[in-house]
Amino acid sequence: MKAIIATSPGDASVLSVVDVEVPEPGPGDIVIDVAAAGVNRADVAQRQGAYPPPAGAPAWLGLEASGRVSWAGPGSGHSVGDEVCALLSGGGYAEQVVVDGRLALPVPAGVALADAAALMETVCTVWSNVFQLAGLQPGENLLVHGGSSGIGTTAIQMGVEFGARVAVTASTLEKLEACRRLGAEVLINYRTEDFVQRVKDDLGGADVILDMVGGSYLARNVHALRTNGRIANIASMDPSPGELDFRYLMRKRGTIRSTSLRARPLAERVAIVTDVREHVWPRVADGSIRPIVHTTFPLAEATEAHRLMESSDHIGKILLIP
Ligand SMILES: NC(=O)c1ccc[n+]([C@@H]2O[C@H](COP(=O)([O-])OP(=O)(O)OC[C@H]3O[C@@H](n4cnc5c(N)ncnc54)[C@H](OP(=O)(O)O)[C@@H]3O)[C@@H](O)[C@H]2O)c1
Repeated sequence: MKAIIATSPGDASVLSVVDVEVPEPGPGDIVIDVAAAGVNRADVAQRQGAYPPPAGAPAWLGLEASGRVSWAGPGSGHSVGDEVCALLSGGGYAEQVVVDGRLALPVPAGVALADAAALMETVCTVWSNVFQLAGLQPGENLLVHGGSSGIGTTAIQMGVEFGARVAVTASTLEKLEACRRLGAEVLINYRTEDFVQRVKDDLGGADVILDMVGGSYLARNVHALRTNGRIANIASMDPSPGELDFRYLMRKRGTIRSTSLRARPLAERVAIVTDVREHVWPRVADGSIRPIVHTTFPLAEATEAHRLMESSDHIGKILLIP
């Protein structure tokens, strides 16, 4: 089959179409004929050589995909012909992918098969961080950095759907307007405004912050918290080391968690997917939460897809179509 690999660590031009063998499925696995694969910021880091795939994962990129099941192992929980979307450790940028059946969910009613490729990485990341680890409650305030990102557009919708008031940061008016349409109430241009002051002025502080910036935002995030506030960090878009005076965290009785979904043990990822099916999937099926797809590219144009992601001109998700 055709797949996309980075021929060597480098810029987007190192992405190439290659012929590879479909990995051998084990019992409990399924093989999916890929309809679409989601592009994630982590794929850029993997392409650059900064985020190597875990042991056992394919060498080709791709953390999520949707498609039809073409082979189902006994006990996989799926049947040939099922339309599914799956959370992957790698290998989504390909014509077929093999995955443990417990990491795949049925495509929710009303969602197009290709668009479902935009769901698993974002919904599972937001659910596990904002809801499971940070425990967002109805009536609380959620600050989402990078509101227009694939993760951000999902976090806004999930926050609003579960009864939170949502503030976002983004770099342009157009992006902030897109966040407003998704339900965000406090719109902060981080290039021209101080997000700490705005969150305090408009909401009295944040109970939960979904942070993908890290570095220079560490102390500022703590200042933006309300008492008992929780920070869920998922990335370091600002790779500089952060500095924090712990007295401020203590005064807020604050908590900081930081996790990577792909690095979590299989049992934890299965538990997250199971929980997502129970709590989030009904709200995707009724249209309350939907995949926000900016654009699609043919699989062979993965280089262009990565260039778009690195330009940060997109709002929501970018998909590859084999
Ligand atoms: N830990 C995990 O398990 C996990 C899972 C999935 C994703 N992630 C991470 O989550 C982030 C988003 O992923 P994605 O695939 O959705 O990527 P994406 O769509 O490319 O989004 C990246 C976002 O970062 C924003 N950003 C950069 N600097 C910022 C700043 N100083 N303040 C506020 N926003 C800033 C950009 O907003 P502007 O364009 O407006 O600057 C953009 O919206 C990535 O860093 C990714 O690695 C982590």
